[in-house]
Amino acid sequence: MPEVRVISVTKKFGKIIAVDNASLYVHDREYFSLLGPSGCGKTTLLRLIAGLIEPDEGEIYIGDRLVNKVPPEDRGIGFVFQTFALFPHMNAWNNVTYGPRVKAWEEGKSERIGREMLEMVRLHERLDAFPHELSGGMMQRVALARALAAGAKLLLLDEPLGQLDAKVRNELRYELRKMVKALELTAIHVTHDQAEAMAISDRIAVMRKGKILQVGTPQELYMTPQHIFVANFIGESNFLEGYVSKSTEKELTIELRGGLLIRTLDKTHKEGEKVVIAIRPEILAIKKGKRGGVNSISGHVEGFRFEGTNVRYEIRLENGDLVVIVSPALMTEWLGIGEKVTVSFPIEKSFVFSYPERGLKRELALE
Ligand SMILES: Nc1ncnc2c1ncn2[C@@H]1O[C@H](COP(=O)(O)OP(=O)(O)OP(=O)(O)O)[C@@H](O)[C@H]1O
Ligand SMILES: [Mg+2]
Repeated sequence: MPEVRVISVTKKFGKIIAVDNASLYVHDREYFSLLGPSGCGKTTLLRLIAGLIEPDEGEIYIGDRLVNKVPPEDRGIGFVFQTFALFPHMNAWNNVTYGPRVKAWEEGKSERIGREMLEMVRLHERLDAFPHELSGGMMQRVALARALAAGAKLLLLDEPLGQLDAKVRNELRYELRKMVKALELTAIHVTHDQAEAMAISDRIAVMRKGKILQVGTPQELYMTPQHIFVANFIGESNFLEGYVSKSTEKELTIELRGGLLIRTLDKTHKEGEKVVIAIRPEILAIKKGKRGGVNSISGHVEGFRFEGTNVRYEIRLENGDLVVIVSPALMTEWLGIGEKVTVSFPIEKSFVFSYPERGLKRELALE
């Protein structure tokens, strides 16, 4: 049963703490992603699980077995590297069927699996091609087919779709997930693309600077981010700074810059505390003119962009703060630059965080 447990694992390279006291529990047959910006330690954590490097501290279990000292080839894993590593002297077919042949599976079975995998990645017509004759995206697809064909129950995938163009990438996402589910595999998939992680995963660990910030289903991370960074990295958020001016049993009144008052459901912050309130661009409503009502703030249109499905407005609020609003294009009143508007949002749909010690900008920075 390839469940994976990572317990308080740290890995340093000289002064760099690439993985910092990380703990994870990946369930058997789960599709799990490690998501975070470039350099946050995703590849290092995956290489630790694979056994390509050893942790300085902590323990890694695959199933019930402590694998800290177990070499990669004895861990029962299939690995797709971020920089693809095909056998250069073998054509696509021989690359993909390498695992089954090494394991001396009966020929019919190796053939069938090889064919299925190459069809999945849509390269069944390029069986004879050598790596140098394939594009980067094609090589990556061969590497993926090879990892799947090798029959390991635990798949470790480092940006397996990274080299592909957007359309193929989107299609392969779903097929990859389907394949992992159909073959009852456990997959740990590294990506810096939040849309990919959301679409493909049962659960996601959001990483930053070697640390795991939050683990949850895509919905949990979107609906209840526990860190400012997560609220910004999973989906988008507007961040407004303020002070708690009143707190009751279940509700806070927050005073924003310029004395604007807004209300939010929250009971964890105290009167006088400096806070950041995060509001998703898609929950902000926008109306022409000046209007009253709870959490209604007036402002004017400073910019807009038609994005196809959505319109993205930039609104300068009366207190000088800037917010972004994203609304479905077909449902939106067209508003020009300078138009006076009122934006509003429901009290139950925003998130309140304590003001970060290091300041908001540094908290949101990708590195
Ligand atoms: N072998 C190594 N020697 C020295 N430093 C390393 C080594 N491998 C990784 N690092 C450093 O560890 C940190 C984490 O690197 P890692 O490759 O795990 O990031 P990542 O999240 O996979 O980034 P990316 O999305 O760019 O692939 C980086 O600062 C990197 O420079
Ligand atoms: Mg990487």
